[in-house]
Amino acid sequence: MRKVLAIALASAGFALAADGKAIFQQKGCASCHQPNVDTVGPSLKKIAQAYESVEQLVKYLKGEAQPIVDPAKANIMNAQLAQLKGLSEEELKALAEYILSFK
Ligand code: HEC
Repeated sequence: MRKVLAIALASAGFALAADGKAIFQQKGCASCHQPNVDTVGPSLKKIAQAYESVEQLVKYLKGEAQPIVDPAKANIMNAQLAQLKGLSEEELKALAEYILSFK
């Protein structure tokens, strides 16, 4: 059991590292979110610092949690969340992991 879990975690970890950046770029997120400076949207660093865990960020990305970084501009970002609707749980986790890597 323990071995199976370790293998599952290891392969999940590999997928996380591989896909998050690609999804971020393919979905056009990079046009409003730079690593370190605020542009149209807050920097990835600022977002990463506001979120404590991948689970918390995934909830936001699914539209199940309120924005906490710059809620006054949430209407701009809400339209973007629709683009993530077709993604699997694993892909959303990979995306969140990528964003949180800017902490
Ligand atoms: C048209 C510009 C634009 C695009 C494209 C965009 N964002 Fe945003 N994003 C914003 C703005 C503006 C905010 C600030 C509003 C807010 O924090 O709610 C924001 C905030 C966020 C936040 C912080 C939410 C919070 O808790 O406040 C996350 C996470 C995020 N964006 C992820 C993404 C992802 C992932 C994509 C690609 C699917 C994306 N953004 C595409 C403009 C954009």
